[in-house]
Amino acid sequence: MTRLAGKLAGKIALVTGAGSMTSSMGNGGMGNGKATAIRLARDGAAICALDLNLEAAEETCTLIRAEGGTAHAVAADVTREDEVIAAIAKCLETFGRIDILQNNVGILRTGGAMDSTVEDWDLMVHVNMKAVFLPTKHALPHFVERGAGVITNISSIAGLRYLGTPYIGYNATKGSIISFTRNLAAEVAPHGIRANAILPGFVDTPMAREVTIQKSDTPDAIDWDALDQQRAARIPLGRVGTPWDVANAAAFLASDDASYITGTEITVDGGVSCRV
Ligand SMILES: NC(=O)c1ccc[n+]([C@@H]2O[C@H](COP(=O)([O-])OP(=O)(O)OC[C@H]3O[C@@H](n4cnc5c(N)ncnc54)[C@H](O)[C@@H]3O)[C@@H](O)[C@H]2O)c1
Repeated sequence: MTRLAGKLAGKIALVTGAGSMTSSMGNGGMGNGKATAIRLARDGAAICALDLNLEAAEETCTLIRAEGGTAHAVAADVTREDEVIAAIAKCLETFGRIDILQNNVGILRTGGAMDSTVEDWDLMVHVNMKAVFLPTKHALPHFVERGAGVITNISSIAGLRYLGTPYIGYNATKGSIISFTRNLAAEVAPHGIRANAILPGFVDTPMAREVTIQKSDTPDAIDWDALDQQRAARIPLGRVGTPWDVANAAAFLASDDASYITGTEITVDGGVSCRV
């Protein structure tokens, strides 16, 4: 088994949503989960790359192996308890242990309180909340038995406040992930387990591009570079985030450098939330 040397050498990380929505969406098809899986592998962790889309998870594993890392792809829907149980069992069977759980899956439907449909509301509550609850619930017995483990949940700065566009269901579920993480951290700290949340700002990922396309009347005419510049002008650090920015924060939280950090949030937004 090949492993890269680094701060996570010898660790096993299960990353959910480790594929990416579509490689044809531009930006090299790089999403937050995919970049995190690659980043954790660069730091020496062996990766269990879980995704609804097995092909996408395999693509992530191929990239990791090309750099000398170790990765195994698992297909699972994180909203289905039976599939989550089977995926964790597969990860344990493959690597013998899990040290790090990165809950990255999340979906977005646009709309405010008056125009959101009940279907979209239910879908976001169902996916975004179960995406943190189910993998956590079923990884915890293993973590508790070993008296160690790190859980990092992907929320969003949209979970803190209104950002100028009505995404009420998405924002409410992302806010709930912050509360979930704080409660979890307090509950599991006596077992030596840490739990934190990452709150990305605007990150150029296939999912973010898909939302822009859905909102546009002329999707074929979108000038991505011009749009990036407009967005960058509203960000104190002057650029849109990349999935690697999120992955870097995840690598820190997963490492022993963060061994006294639990129940908190790291904002990765170029300064947006301190100015809104
Ligand atoms: N892109 C942004 O600007 C931004 C900002 C803040 C937070 N986030 C959060 O980052 C996370 C990842 O977003 P992204 O933009 O990288 O998305 P993405 O669509 O590029 O990647 C998400 C991956 O999750 C997988 N997935 C979706 N539903 C699943 C399910 N039920 N079970 C298993 N896998 C599933 C998809 O197949 C995809 O590969 C999300 O939680 C999102 O809310 C993104």
